[in-house]
Amino acid sequence: MSMQNPVYNLPARALHWLVLGLLAVQYIGAQILPEGEDGGARTAPAAGSLVDWHMSLGVLIGLVIVIRLAWRVTWKAPAPPENQPAWQEKAASLTHLALYGLLVLIPLAGWAWASALSWTVTLFHTLSLPPLVAAGTWPDLFGNLHALMGNLMLAAVGLHLVAALWHQFVLRDGLLRRMWPRRNG
Ligand code: HEM
Repeated sequence: MSMQNPVYNLPARALHWLVLGLLAVQYIGAQILPEGEDGGARTAPAAGSLVDWHMSLGVLIGLVIVIRLAWRVTWKAPAPPENQPAWQEKAASLTHLALYGLLVLIPLAGWAWASALSWTVTLFHTLSLPPLVAAGTWPDLFGNLHALMGNLMLAAVGLHLVAALWHQFVLRDGLLRRMWPRRNG
């Protein structure tokens, strides 16, 4: 057997739950964004508006994801639970891959959408990102992709949550403990 970690380490657990917290705020905020209120004119959002906050939080989530992926490629995750059928192992890997992929693609699509609308994306007005695409480049496409992938991620997180609860309460194999917040490394 290769050297495998028994549980996720402290940075892994901190990043996992930080992402959940940031996403929860971002999703709740996204439900009340004033979409289309300007009759589709899509004027640049004022500083401090909900859309402005949404974009800043999106940049922050994007930065956290880069750190999380850097952790993921440099640290070996715990082995799948023993005696788990191969299809479940495959399903878990695919779901995790989908979650990582969407965590990268959703902020990128949002950034491209804002760039297409000629909006400047900032990190709470401390750092301005350059446009990802030229102004006018397929704003509807990027907007639709951003929203579609947001819904896909909600479905993937739902599946992930059901699987975690299944392990915890039906299989009772202690899987949740591997990711549960605790102070020691
Ligand atoms: C809703 C509450 C959540 C619970 C209860 C939960 C639970 C867990 C647990 C127990 C694991 C470890 C699985 C194992 O040991 O094999 C895990 C891993 C993971 N979780 Fe969550 N999770 C939640 C939300 C999220 C969210 C919102 C995301 C991202 C959108 C996410 C992304 C991941 C990823 C990518 C892994 C795999 C880590 C790796 O090995 O690379 N989780 N989660």
